[in-house]
Amino acid sequence: MFICNKSFILIIFVITTSFIFTNDNYAIKMSKIIKLPQPKYDGSTSLEQALLKRRSIRNYSKKPLSINEVSQLLWSAQGITDKEKSFRTVPSAGALYPVETYLIVNNVENVEQGIYKYDVEEHKIVMIRKGYFNEQLSFAALNQSCVKDASVIVILCADYAKTTRRYGDRGIKYVHIEIGHSAQNVQLQTVSLNLGSVVVGAFDDEKVKKILNISNTEHPLYIIPIGKL
Ligand SMILES: Cc1cc2nc3c(=O)[nH]c(=O)nc-3n(C[C@H](O)[C@H](O)[C@H](O)COP(=O)(O)O)c2cc1C
Repeated sequence: MFICNKSFILIIFVITTSFIFTNDNYAIKMSKIIKLPQPKYDGSTSLEQALLKRRSIRNYSKKPLSINEVSQLLWSAQGITDKEKSFRTVPSAGALYPVETYLIVNNVENVEQGIYKYDVEEHKIVMIRKGYFNEQLSFAALNQSCVKDASVIVILCADYAKTTRRYGDRGIKYVHIEIGHSAQNVQLQTVSLNLGSVVVGAFDDEKVKKILNISNTEHPLYIIPIGKL
């Protein structure tokens, strides 16, 4: 009877796990680490069209983003473009890469709401907090409605010491320039994906740090709410 019970449990376990691993959406929803799909390198919008169309967009529809769109956005912010040298989509003084990218997920198909950190090397996102955070973040950003209504929010933070260790105070300037490179990439990528976005600099640093639960060495510099048109 005992052996029979054990075999029954084993059969149920095999059926359940095979269901989880054969059903992609379910597997994505259940995991706290999400391997992002390979970004595409051949969008149909020319660079000139993206530059021409780029505009701050603060109203979004309630349609969810796809995981492919999330992948593309994070890759544009800091993704690897040269695996051997670990160079990225953005230039970086001394290739020190002080920018850390966070993603607040509000409305993405088959992805749990929460705060995720972008793992650049592995092109994956790792959940650091579970739940709905748009409202708290909007409050930290002087109640801006674009932050509350966004389907995802990219938050660009920086660890200044990574750059100032080598370049002294001049490194502070470099970090701010690098944040600009990243933010511009994200905005142009949103245009190419037919999404809306705006770069937000008006927020309370300490409140944002608390929401992200980041260490004292990291500082939020830009919030980029994004959603479907
Ligand atoms: C450093 C910086 C901070 C900004 N902060 C905000 C902000 O907090 N809220 C907002 O709605 N727009 C913000 N913007 C967007 C500007 O308002 C916007 O770029 C400007 O009105 C020009 O419009 P455009 O982006 O459509 O060309 C910011 C832009 C920059 C460069």
